[in-house]
Amino acid sequence: MKKFVLAVAIFTTIYSFKNKKKEKRNTVMKRNGAYYVNNHIIVNRDYKVCPFYIPFPKLKARNALKLMIKDARNQGFQLIIISGFRSYLKQMRLFNMYVRRDGLEKAKTYSAEPGYSEHQTGLAFDVASPGLDESIKEQFQFTKESKWLQDNAHFYGFIIRYPKGKEDITEFMYEPWHIRYVGKEDAMEIVNKNLTLEEYFDLI
Ligand code: DAL
Ligand code: ZN
Repeated sequence: MKKFVLAVAIFTTIYSFKNKKKEKRNTVMKRNGAYYVNNHIIVNRDYKVCPFYIPFPKLKARNALKLMIKDARNQGFQLIIISGFRSYLKQMRLFNMYVRRDGLEKAKTYSAEPGYSEHQTGLAFDVASPGLDESIKEQFQFTKESKWLQDNAHFYGFIIRYPKGKEDITEFMYEPWHIRYVGKEDAMEIVNKNLTLEEYFDLI
């Protein structure tokens, strides 16, 4: 009988712990003009940041990026940063420019409307290899640097935020250059389970 009670107690504890973990992941909280899940800021088609949201300097993310670029260089891969923090206003100018160039529908597949860009969080960066700038960054996917980034970014706490084959979930085209800092532990889990941030936080 004692054994039975003990088994039930253990089962109940594990079950409630698992559920708590899930509940925690599902909780979206709004504070200071932005949405958070589990202390991670979340910005996507559904969750926008307010126009005045300006992040504190993201030192952990910037240091991780510097280290990653340095390690890549030491292994023979050249990565350069082509975009980092973008204010609401800057994103607005960029988006409007793309709309003028390609039309609204096309622009929306690759550029976030102001308030819906992760770049406003200071945790997203666009990286490329030398010779590729903003206008020809589509070419990045064919470089050895892109493969390196795909294979290694998570060891530094970054994820490829808009992966290939998950366009219907992220609602953005494949962007091999756009990385988002989430910290090493979460990045490892997201990549090992082949998830998007939306799937990881049960937001779909
Ligand atoms: N290119 C990404 C989706 C952005 O504009 O934030
Ligand atoms: Zn980007």
